[in-house]
Amino acid sequence: MSNTKKTGGLAGVVAGESAICTVGTGHGLNYRGYDIYDLANNAIFEEVAYLLIFGELPTQKELSDYKKKLSNERDLSDTLKTILENIPKNAHPMDVMRTASSALGCIEPENEDFSNQNEILIKLLGKFSSMLLYWYHFHFHNEKINTSSEQDTIAGFFLEKLHNKPPKKEHIDCMNVSLILYAEHEFNASTFSARISASTLSDMYSNIISGICALRGPLHGGANEAAFRLVSLYKNADEARVGILDKLKNKDKIMGFGHRVYTTKDPRNVVIKKYAKELSTTKEFENFFQISEMIEKVMWDEKKIFPNLDFYSASSYHFMGIPTDFFTPLFIISRTAGWGAHIIEQRANNKLIRPSSTYIGVDNREFIPMEKRI
Ligand code: SDX
Repeated sequence: MSNTKKTGGLAGVVAGESAICTVGTGHGLNYRGYDIYDLANNAIFEEVAYLLIFGELPTQKELSDYKKKLSNERDLSDTLKTILENIPKNAHPMDVMRTASSALGCIEPENEDFSNQNEILIKLLGKFSSMLLYWYHFHFHNEKINTSSEQDTIAGFFLEKLHNKPPKKEHIDCMNVSLILYAEHEFNASTFSARISASTLSDMYSNIISGICALRGPLHGGANEAAFRLVSLYKNADEARVGILDKLKNKDKIMGFGHRVYTTKDPRNVVIKKYAKELSTTKEFENFFQISEMIEKVMWDEKKIFPNLDFYSASSYHFMGIPTDFFTPLFIISRTAGWGAHIIEQRANNKLIRPSSTYIGVDNREFIPMEKRI
C-alpha cells in the first residue's frame, strides 16, 4: 500500500484506551491477549465471544452454560415474527437486521440501569440468526421456520436454518472460524460508532444498532458483499487480470483490499483463504478461487495492496451456499461480541466522546433580510 502517511478520517489518531484487542502495532492481532491464530485453531466462536465480553476464556462449565443461554434465546415472540413478516421482501438483509434489533429493543428493552446488559447481548447473539432466517424463509419460501435444532453453536444453527438441512462439518468449521476472525478489531469504524453511542449512556440496542449502521457501508463491513460481486464480474483469471488493471487505471477502489491500519497484510487473510481453498471443491468454485487469486496477484504486483478479511470471506461464504446479501449480516452476528465488549468497557469508565473540528467555513457575515436575497 502506498507508504505515504495517511491523513483524514482520524488516521493515526489514538482515540482512547482499551484492554480488548491489539491490531498491528507490532503485537499482531490479539483478543484479550490471546493470539488470533491460537483462537482460530483451537476455540469455537462462543468461547471467543465469552472471552471478549468477560475477559477470560470460559471453563467447560461456563462455556456449556453460555451456549445453553444462547440456544435458549433462539426463539422469536409472535410480536417479533409479525414485525419480520411485515418487513418487505426486497429489503436488504442488513436493514432487516437493523430493524429487527430495533423491534427487539422495543419488545424486550434493556433495564434503565444497564443491569441486564449481558443478557441483552446474549439475546441479540442468540436471536440474530433466527430473525434474519425467519424473514428470509417467510418471504422467499413462504415458510414460517421454527427454531428447534440439534446444532449447539451459532455457526451450525445458522447453516442448518439457512439450508433447512444438517450442515456439512467442513462448513460448520469454516463458519466457526469466520465468526472468530470477524469478532473484534479494536477501534474500527463500527466499533467506534458503538462506543460513541455508549458514551452518551444510550441503551445496548441503540449502541449495537450504531455499529450495524456503520458496518453496512462498502468501505467497511459491506466490502465482503462487494468483493463477491467484483470477482463474479469475470469468467476466468485472464479476464480478471485485464479487468482489474482497467479499474486501477480509473482509480477505482477494489473491494476486499487494503486496510487503514495494516500496511503489508491482514493477518486474518491467511486463515480464511485456507478455508476458502479447501471448500473450492467444484469446477465452478475452483475457477472462482483462481479468479480471486489472480486479483490478489494483480493488486500486489501493481499497488502492493493486499486482501483484507473480507476478500476471501466472500469466496468461503459463496462456497457454503450463503446468499451474497447475507455476508455482512454474518459480520454483524460475529462483531456483536466485539461491540458488546467495547460498550461494556466504555460504560465502566465512561466519558462522553466529543472531539472538536477545525473550522474551514466562511467568516462572520451580516444577516440578509429576505427581500434582499436574490
Ligand atoms: C474492514 O478498520 C478495521 O479494522 C476494519 C475491519 C474490521 O475488522 O473491522 O478490518 C473490516 O472494514 C476491512 C476493509 C474493508 N473495506 C474494503 O475492502 C474497501 C476497499 N478498501 C479501501 O477503500 C481502503 O483500503 C480502506 C477504506 C479499507 C482503507 O482506506 P484508507 O486507510 O482511507 O486509505 P486510502 O483510501 O487513503 O488509500 C491509500 C492509498 C490510495 O492511493 P493514493 O491516492 O495514495 O495513490 O491506497 C489506495 C488509495 O487509492 N487504495 C486502494 C485501495 N485501498 C487503498 N486502491 C485500490 N483499491 C483499494 N482497495
